[in-house]
Amino acid sequence: MDKNAVIKEYESKIKRVVITEEQIKEAVKKAGKMISDSYDGRPILLVSILKGSFIFMADLCRAITVPCEIAFMCAKSYYEGTQSSGVVKITMDLDRDISDYHVIIVEDIIDTGRTLTDIVRILKSRNPLSLRVVSLLDKPDRRLVEFKADYTLFTIPDFFVIGYGLDCAEKYRNLPYIAEFE
Ligand code: IMP
Ligand code: MG
Repeated sequence: MDKNAVIKEYESKIKRVVITEEQIKEAVKKAGKMISDSYDGRPILLVSILKGSFIFMADLCRAITVPCEIAFMCAKSYYEGTQSSGVVKITMDLDRDISDYHVIIVEDIIDTGRTLTDIVRILKSRNPLSLRVVSLLDKPDRRLVEFKADYTLFTIPDFFVIGYGLDCAEKYRNLPYIAEFE
């Protein structure tokens, strides 16, 4: 296929910018400060839920000014496209005991609430010192199970978004801003 046609098709799906790089930067800085201010001298473990939160995690951990460690977990709920399968699968688990940590789950977006409900239940059963959830985005209109994050950076209406880690069929994660998908 012609390269320019592919790029044109790719770009045509980026409907409009919803949250700019500047707005993200500002909000991440605030979230980092909130986490730093809550430090009580005991270890903090940031748990990034892959893949969607990898960019948010990278920026958030650099906005934290107190000692913290990072870990990754992989959960899949959207197998392709924009429809939820309604199945949450842990495809990669943590590699350590979390019982001596204040655990902070770092997520990209809360949609139906299923992914985080499952992950919170699993991590709670491992008895961390405390467990909090920080989510970059929240779409409360889409909730199927009740779930509230401890800290949300942006609340958005019910539309599908891409960029800053969020994908549509694995593409657009590398956009530096958050956009509505066409
Ligand atoms: P939940 O279990 O329905 O809350 O699903 C949350 C997961 O679905 C997120 O971690 C994302 O990976 C994915 N997701 C939900 N909404 C969007 C969206 O608007 N764009 C991209 N991914 C989304
Ligand atoms: Mg995700």
